[in-house]
Amino acid sequence: MCGIVGYVGRSAATPVLLSGLRRLEYRGYDSAGLSIQEGKSLLSLRAVGKVARLADKVRAEWSEDRQSKCSVGIAHTRWATHGAPTEANAHPHADASGRIRLVHNGIIENYRVIRAKLEAKGHVFSSETDTEAVSRLIGEYYKGDLRKAVISALRQIEGAYGIAVISADEPGRIVVARKGSPLVIGVGEGECLVASDPSALISHTRRVIYLDDGDVALVTADSVDITDLNHAPMDRDVAELEFEAGAVEKGGYAHFMLKEIHEQPESVRNALRGRLDLLNGTAVLSGMGATARELIELQRIVMVGCGTSLHAGMVGDFAFEDLAAIQAEVQPAAEFRYRNPLVDGRDLVVAISQSGETADTLAAVREAKEKGAMVMGLVNVVGSTIAREAGRGVYLHAGPEISVASTKAFTGQVAVLLLMALKLGRGRRLSRERGLALAGEIGRLPELIEAVLKQDSAIAKVAESMAKHEHAFFLGRGPMHPVALEGALKLKEISYIHAEGYHAAELKHGPIALLTPGMPVVVLANRSSVLEKTIGNAEECKARGAHIIAIVTEDGPEVAIADEVIIIPDCDPLIATIPAVVALQLLSYHVARLRGCPIDQPRNLAKSVTVE
Ligand code: F6R
Repeated sequence: MCGIVGYVGRSAATPVLLSGLRRLEYRGYDSAGLSIQEGKSLLSLRAVGKVARLADKVRAEWSEDRQSKCSVGIAHTRWATHGAPTEANAHPHADASGRIRLVHNGIIENYRVIRAKLEAKGHVFSSETDTEAVSRLIGEYYKGDLRKAVISALRQIEGAYGIAVISADEPGRIVVARKGSPLVIGVGEGECLVASDPSALISHTRRVIYLDDGDVALVTADSVDITDLNHAPMDRDVAELEFEAGAVEKGGYAHFMLKEIHEQPESVRNALRGRLDLLNGTAVLSGMGATARELIELQRIVMVGCGTSLHAGMVGDFAFEDLAAIQAEVQPAAEFRYRNPLVDGRDLVVAISQSGETADTLAAVREAKEKGAMVMGLVNVVGSTIAREAGRGVYLHAGPEISVASTKAFTGQVAVLLLMALKLGRGRRLSRERGLALAGEIGRLPELIEAVLKQDSAIAKVAESMAKHEHAFFLGRGPMHPVALEGALKLKEISYIHAEGYHAAELKHGPIALLTPGMPVVVLANRSSVLEKTIGNAEECKARGAHIIAIVTEDGPEVAIADEVIIIPDCDPLIATIPAVVALQLLSYHVARLRGCPIDQPRNLAKSVTVE
């Protein structure tokens, strides 16, 4: 979604801001803009479309010499919510005097009230955005101290925000604040950066300060001074970013998605590192922060998440019930808060999120805490809001996921959920023997994934027939049902083919009416106790002329009705969810590539969904 970058230092701000915006392109956006300080005035440019268009405008309008004298600025990529993606709606927005500029992520819920009040005072708004209400309100309060004016304005505001503000009258300063939208400050040598996502500043510094909700910071080239909304000083630690700048580059791959698919042996290895106890057949997950007794006394596990993370939770559901004999359920995070959920102190609520910033998942964390449940995060982005608010949790250590379509986060999430189920299982009903066998299988995950990646060209061949269709089904049973849902999600989001994931047995209860001759039906037909049933369901499709693509186990039972097969290595059916999903990721990738789709940034999508 929207992205923020700010720079205050001694170098020219514009190139830093533009390269930061490019780093944030993956989040999805439809317009961009920037403002820089030039002596005691501000220069601004905005453009609809890609950052490249903004960069063209910068080149056309500001000479390099002029830019080189401007070393403070703020910039933004906007994903339209209030008002169409037009230049007038793009950020930065100004106050009435034009001497203040602001960029904003999030949604201001009471902007209509503020706007009406300001209009009654004579303000003439130039955009349809909620943001302009904030920039104008700051201007109303401005009496020579930008931070004070920002605080006074923010105290009037309801909703979510991450903002960065500059004033023509305060050279060398950026004021930033957050509530509900992430903001991180990068602390360099004689320069500071601000960003909504650390990937925008990693090439400048690894030292960062994550702001908490309610923080307001005055940032200069050499200092960061943080207070709360009551002007009370706040102390925040400087953290070290874990990943390298190269992690947010394509590294020779055609797309980030392909790179991230291929990173999975390593990312899953990182998720497992130090966590598998191969002597006792269990897992070590200190981040869960629970005593053995607390784990034994757990009555239920409730997983919440959205999209791909929700699908990972659905696999976890099978693992918890099967391995740990503990009641488990998965709820869409968007539903959790509004259904007045039944959870209490004996329940563990696991918030699953790659970004750690998804608004619905964060709201679910808050609701679960309110109800007294034990809450933990299963998050990839270190220092993200969910990771911090959940208080306890297990990081995925998958490294930055840049492609909008999630891949390595899913496999990391499932791997960690398997570890959790193993650990809980060993404290309950799982014998040491079964624990050892499972731990061994989980430890093989990187090599199981490698085996699938080696079939890249065979999978690309299967993609050729699929790419010609506009509809597809994905079918699975048991833990392969969520894999079918995930396979369909991947295909639809990046190739724009209409794809439906179904429980294999559900098809004949309605959706089978959609089958037409030749329609691709992907069947997850790996070795499992329900394989015969799954094949039976696939037969029903075959009988109606479907083109069956079966995901089958190497040296496993034959699926004679399949028109094409993709082979995954033999392993435990729960663990097979990971190699199977990798096969489906590659399949979707190649279909989208053959159809010429913008794979890393599909239309209408944003990487981290920070609005409800
Ligand atoms: C799909 C995808 C989304 C995310 C969802 C949740 O490929 O990426 O469905 O999984 O928006 O995001 P996180 O995991 O960041 O909470």
